Amino acid sequence: MEIFLDTANIEEIKKGASLGIISGVTTNPSLIAREGRDLKEVVMEIVSLIDGPISAEVISLDYEGMVREAEELSKLHPNITIKIPMTWDGIRAVKTLSSKGIKTNVTLVFSANQALLAALAGATFVSPFVGRLDDTGHDGVYLIEEIKTIYENYNFKTKIIAASIRHPLHVTQVAKAGADIATVPFKVLTQMFAHPQTKEGIEKFLADWQAMKK
Ligand code: E4P
Repeated sequence: MEIFLDTANIEEIKKGASLGIISGVTTNPSLIAREGRDLKEVVMEIVSLIDGPISAEVISLDYEGMVREAEELSKLHPNITIKIPMTWDGIRAVKTLSSKGIKTNVTLVFSANQALLAALAGATFVSPFVGRLDDTGHDGVYLIEEIKTIYENYNFKTKIIAASIRHPLHVTQVAKAGADIATVPFKVLTQMFAHPQTKEGIEKFLADWQAMKK
């Protein structure tokens, strides 16, 4: 499973990029608004830091508007992937964009049927929101399993991005469920490194080494 960063914060992306293991970035209008910057400007800066799919979301809700925005954004750089909300017009737009070779990421997916429709439209990626489903008392990880089964049954090429990841256990769970990618907030990425026994082990090794040198 690959890891994308789910942020529009350039400092976080620079730090993540320095690891050499982050293969993409997802943004959404809330994340861009949090930075208080222009969408295209932020996206172009991200493109210069990470060589992989960079998701930028359209604001329009109608088919024509979504296609227009998607065409404008996709012209900026080949790595830009257009995030389209899971609606009737959204699926129409994804079908049009995929026929033009424009990469898409169907977002706000909360059911297996929505993921099926996205795959039928030729979406490059689908983003089921694990954490937000959990918040409503449903099982977000189980949704990943369902989508994986359906995509495997019919050999769909659409990749599953497990989104709305809230903690490190989610990452393990979606990896086991077969997600192609987990898009994680920077905080979760840092939490994935941590284990008290790793810290204790390093301290003990260093203490033993120092003791031997006395
Ligand atoms: C990513 O594609 C989504 O926009 C993001 O993961 C949503 O996460 P949230 O539910 O924490 O806002």
